[in-house]
Amino acid sequence: MLFRRGIEIKNRTQLGYMRQAALVVNQIHEAVWQTAKAGVTPREIDEISAQIIADNNAKSNFLGYYDYPATICISVNDTVVHGIPDSIPFEVGDLVSFDCGCYLEKDGKQWHGDSAFSVIIGEEPAPKPAPSISAHSYPTSSKKEQLLEITRRSTWAGVAAMARPRARVNDIGAAIEDEVDAFAETSGWTAGIVEEFTGHGIGTAMHQPPDVFNFRAAGRSAAIKPGMVLCVEPILTCGSNQVTTLADGWTVKTIDHSLACHWEAQVAVLEEGICVLNQPDCGEDALAPFGVKPVRI
Ligand code: MF3
Ligand code: CO
Repeated sequence: MLFRRGIEIKNRTQLGYMRQAALVVNQIHEAVWQTAKAGVTPREIDEISAQIIADNNAKSNFLGYYDYPATICISVNDTVVHGIPDSIPFEVGDLVSFDCGCYLEKDGKQWHGDSAFSVIIGEEPAPKPAPSISAHSYPTSSKKEQLLEITRRSTWAGVAAMARPRARVNDIGAAIEDEVDAFAETSGWTAGIVEEFTGHGIGTAMHQPPDVFNFRAAGRSAAIKPGMVLCVEPILTCGSNQVTTLADGWTVKTIDHSLACHWEAQVAVLEEGICVLNQPDCGEDALAPFGVKPVRI
């Protein structure tokens, strides 16, 4: 395995393994999307996720990670990230993020998938394609819908920045912040960008260098090079960007109890361009508005 400034560089075969793992995670997203509605509990969704992982001969990378007690993270309303699935049924209007992951074992190593999306809970699952696989724009009449939309859009803006010539890792956060600022111009309010959590490199472990900031960070970061795989995962709020971790050691909440939203895409860099590993279409649909055409692997 090659490393470049501490960043793991994957060959084509290894990127193929990561694509497989990321598509298992996409299967989880699809199942969650079709299941999540009022009355369903986070624990039920966690069990469905565990079953899909088992059916694909994959393993959970969340379960047991620093003793994390579940297969996915489900973060409701003012929970920002790392919500532990519980038995409290979803209610209409809940803003919920589903952060999912797994790994496959190939050539004696683990190849990790990790991605997330958010939805607003209704009486029934929404009929349109899962937002994780679509460029579909949300209605943005309420602040909650606007938060969902800007979180989704800023994710794709960050991913698109990876495709620019001579891109560096910190260009991702700059693009996310710019997208948040541009959205503020039209909506009249500015989403808070949570700074405590960052995106990350991913490969034979779930969390690897580099940190991928969600804001414009100073300093000269690593160049984005073929063979790198990065998770881009903005976490935005309707209010303060300050967060606190509960006594369970996991659940992260906004201090002002404002709504939070989270999205995560897993992106490989190839000689010919980028590929969003967790999207069946490699991100083509979602990146089109940004003028980026991903490569298929
Ligand atoms: N998936 C999260 C991330 O995006 C990490 C989850 S850690 C866990 O980086 F322990 F909760 F699984
Ligand atoms: Co992640």
